[in-house]
Amino acid sequence: MHRAPLLCTTLDARTVAVASAGLDASNEVHDPAQVTSWEQRFARWLGAGHDAAVRGLGSGRAALRALVDALGLGEGDEVIVPAFTCRSVTNAIRASGASVVFADIETDAFGLDAGAVRRAWGPRVRAVLIQHSFGLPGRDLEALLALAKDRDVQVIEDCAHALGGEWRGRKLGTLGDAALFSFERGKMLSTIHGGMAVVHASAPAHRLNRWVAQAPSPSPESIRALLASVGRDFRQWCGGADDPALADAAARFPPLPRMWPEEFEGQPCPAYAERMAPVVAALAQVQFDRLDEVLARRTAQAGVWADWAAAEGFAAARAPAGSAPAWLRFPLWVDAVTKAAPAALESRLDVEVGLWFTTPEHPVPASAPGCPRGTEACARVVNLPTLLPPGHPWAAR
Ligand SMILES: Cc1ncc(COP(=O)(O)O)c(C=O)c1O
Repeated sequence: MHRAPLLCTTLDARTVAVASAGLDASNEVHDPAQVTSWEQRFARWLGAGHDAAVRGLGSGRAALRALVDALGLGEGDEVIVPAFTCRSVTNAIRASGASVVFADIETDAFGLDAGAVRRAWGPRVRAVLIQHSFGLPGRDLEALLALAKDRDVQVIEDCAHALGGEWRGRKLGTLGDAALFSFERGKMLSTIHGGMAVVHASAPAHRLNRWVAQAPSPSPESIRALLASVGRDFRQWCGGADDPALADAAARFPPLPRMWPEEFEGQPCPAYAERMAPVVAALAQVQFDRLDEVLARRTAQAGVWADWAAAEGFAAARAPAGSAPAWLRFPLWVDAVTKAAPAALESRLDVEVGLWFTTPEHPVPASAPGCPRGTEACARVVNLPTLLPPGHPWAAR
């Protein structure tokens, strides 16, 4: 049976060509100017102001770790996060010494519930992490921004799923004090691992720049493993042709893990310190050329899934009025039995069903007492891919 890619990836032949060129250590894709050029392009696209810093890091979680430091958060401070997130988020925050406080979510767009955030508040809260889950701006975004302003705490937008999403004509990532983006394998564009950190004011921008200046580069071995994974993913998930040099590298370098061992243990992770490798910036740039087309395809596919869900009686995501979600995935409420064993749904739709998030700190066992909706979403919300191969029976036309 045909299976739509679980990774829903934007890898393409141009990206593979860049990865293949990157196997030669003397190729221009290893010039540090690649990172600067990607950061500058991203900053222009985002509309970042003069005081802002927009910096490439080794991953979205490394970007978050750097942001927490740039915002001056650490020991004794608390950061409110939704009870429907992943360990890479909570661990990156805790690695700074700050603590995580779970608040419950709303069930329209899977964002933080403003009332629940008020109830979770304590005297040490210094920041709120607003996660645009699956690329959707949350239902309570306006109330959350007002609450944070009123209480004089900082807002970190987690745009790991939301590259290109908008709310009331404003790009996601420009609404708070700081934002992180991810270019991990299953995200809006894929460099296997990669992220961007954004801060909008000058003092944190100075600290972020200092952080990046002292950040170590990834090892040459891990860069080669990353490049090999580009070839492997392109073949496996896109049905793409083998690049002989990347196939050879893939035989020698195992795939990079999606999570590092320290993260399962809740320990600080060396990868959180890493800067973006120049070749990763080059990989991102070629896919970024197609962002508008990819957003349009994902939006059209979300429309197909919304019609299907309504016809079948499944509750699904509701995008807030005035929003243009990035629709990384289409979230859907199913019963707990289906989430635990989604094979029948997968056969029916001929797609691989995504399960994240299965716990408040996916995929590690965790609980969020006092957050019944987040807990229920972990048990019952699945997500469907929004980039289906042409000719797939459910692909938007
Ligand atoms: C909501 C959210 N935030 C942040 C991250 C971290 O991004 P990265 O995988 O690039 O470290 C993820 C990753 O999967 C995520 O789902």
